[in-house]
Amino acid sequence: MTLLSDAPNLVRDRDGLEAFWMPFTANRQFKSAPRLFVKAEGMYYTTDDGRRVLDGFAGLWCCNAGHCRKPITEAIQKQAAVMDYAPAFQMGHPLAFELANRVVDLAPGKLDHVFFCNSGSEAVDTALKIALGYHRIRGEGARMRLIGRERGYHGVGFGGISVGGIVANRKMFGTMLTGVDHLPHTLDIEKNAFTRGQPEWGAHLADELERLVALHDASTIAAVIVEPIAGSTGVILPPRGYLQRLREITRKHGILLIFDEVITAFGRVGDAFAADVYGVEPDMITFAKGVTSGTVPMGGVLVSSEIYKAFMGGPAGIELFHGYTYSAHPLACAAGIATLDLYEAEGLFERAAKMAPKLENALHSLKGTKHVIDIRNDGLVGAVELAPREKAVGARGFEAFLGCYEKGVLVRQTGDTIAIAPALIVEESQIDQIVSTLREVVDSLA
Ligand SMILES: Cc1ncc(COP(=O)(O)O)c(C=O)c1O
Repeated sequence: MTLLSDAPNLVRDRDGLEAFWMPFTANRQFKSAPRLFVKAEGMYYTTDDGRRVLDGFAGLWCCNAGHCRKPITEAIQKQAAVMDYAPAFQMGHPLAFELANRVVDLAPGKLDHVFFCNSGSEAVDTALKIALGYHRIRGEGARMRLIGRERGYHGVGFGGISVGGIVANRKMFGTMLTGVDHLPHTLDIEKNAFTRGQPEWGAHLADELERLVALHDASTIAAVIVEPIAGSTGVILPPRGYLQRLREITRKHGILLIFDEVITAFGRVGDAFAADVYGVEPDMITFAKGVTSGTVPMGGVLVSSEIYKAFMGGPAGIELFHGYTYSAHPLACAAGIATLDLYEAEGLFERAAKMAPKLENALHSLKGTKHVIDIRNDGLVGAVELAPREKAVGARGFEAFLGCYEKGVLVRQTGDTIAIAPALIVEESQIDQIVSTLREVVDSLA
């Protein structure tokens, strides 16, 4: 068995790197110059060669409480020793119900039931299936169309890539789901460059939904799914009034509105859900990541009482033929409960709201830095967009990511956009470090 402490030896032997086909990674580049973390604590990772790296990205938008927080790790360890696993099909365990209640307590308005799964991708596919099933149960089974948005990221299941709008994630995989259409994305740098928070321009882009309704007819459309903040594509914020317009139009036509809050839920924008922050209540919310602060994989879908009741009014027996072996896994539930306790005890959502102006000012101080063509932010999410190099889109962004890593700061790169999303425990001095490192690195790039 290879222990963690042996990992550096394994890695020095380059053959040892071959077996793992790394996700969303330039495998050949990585394996020629590996970047390995072996330890994490609070705001920091430690690399295999003993360097401390400030985590400017909460792992991958997920470790909102910071790394290896004792109350969470202890809850997981304790649970693993008491009950490792319990089936969630026709059986239950108390932690699943407790966590569902806790999530519902945080959720907006009528979103009062939770379906658990293990990832954001599964949450999205679950929500899309619930939308289709809901209409069918109500006798509107012709509502089969799903509408996503250009540049949207909804994970990697076939449902998620179908409604998603990131070309590279779609083009290899054939026709995907049929009957899907897309709204336009809302990024317009010419109109909104360097906006702090939600842009003023762009609410009218929601009216494109009326065009799709006119094209397909409302009676064929099941649901619209959008991220309140489109994260993975490079942080695109909702223009003021945009989400409200989507809500009005979907409601008018009996179309379900799903917010994919896999990155925005659990404090990222300064409240439990972005739906609260932006004042719009969808019919479903998908979540993952922050629910366990990234410690144990978990995802879920919050659904409205109306949707749940529709299923419960159907034929007797199993109401939804859908679920995962690891839905509501005891370790994930223990981690989730401990995480929500910690968020509450330390007031981390409020802390995120309090630190947001600090991040905003620090990021916007990069305006005028070489290559920087836009800066966007809200809550504890921000992005700095660099001008692409001619015939090498993404190259400058990747070099910026590598440069920051070499200087001890982890950021995330999508194309030529550098995204920042630190844990909600981030200190002001750490925000300064992230931004000054980014400035130095970007300034040095060709
Ligand atoms: C909005 C959104 N939806 C879905 C996903 C997919 O989540 P996972 O990687 O856990 O499947 C992500 C991941 O970043 C996401 O940002």
